[in-house]
Amino acid sequence: MKGRFITIEGTEGVGKTTNIEFIHSLLKEAGREVVLTREPGGTPIGEEVRELLLGHKHDGMSDDTELLLMFAARAEHLDKVIRPALEAGKDVLCDRFTDATYAYQGGGRGIALEHIAVLENWVQGELRPDLTLLLDVPVAIGLQRAGQRSAPDRFEKEKHEFFERVRQMYLQRARAESQRYRIIDASQPLDAVQAQIHAALQGGV
Ligand code: TMP
Repeated sequence: MKGRFITIEGTEGVGKTTNIEFIHSLLKEAGREVVLTREPGGTPIGEEVRELLLGHKHDGMSDDTELLLMFAARAEHLDKVIRPALEAGKDVLCDRFTDATYAYQGGGRGIALEHIAVLENWVQGELRPDLTLLLDVPVAIGLQRAGQRSAPDRFEKEKHEFFERVRQMYLQRARAESQRYRIIDASQPLDAVQAQIHAALQGGV
């Protein structure tokens, strides 16, 4: 049996970390073997690329370089981690995937969506997530929550308008692909958020 490919998305400060741990434990309780991973990252090359992308050493990085590095890390991740796990019947729970590229590089940076689609088809072939949970909160609330954490990375330093475009692109994609996406209202208290996540997972993939 092939495993299920589940991705978690959202802008900054939506509570991804806490909720991914919750989803991980729900899947394990249901008897699934789960590979928990993240993008950019998830492999030795991917984690090095993540440092290039998030650190401040390359603050002037061009938008296309950023896009291609995202997909370079993704190609390695698919080859070494994601495809082998799914083939072995394990579920893959991934903290961000290509929807983040459409949202951040497409919505945020303004790169043509057709260019992203070319890379998506090239690197992924037919593979798409089976289920994507979009943790959604208004940008102002998310940025306030994220600001209470560590020093901002290269993306977190962007302005409010950037994250507004990112959020709108996520919501647009979620509405267009309602079969695959579940929008979780993550501005609610944690137990209400987790009830929504529980229902979304039971609704199944
Ligand atoms: P995070 O996963 O720790 O939230 O940080 C990853 C950052 O990278 C986040 O700001 C979103 C950004 N990102 C993109 O811009 N494009 C992508 O394709 C991915 C996977 C992440």
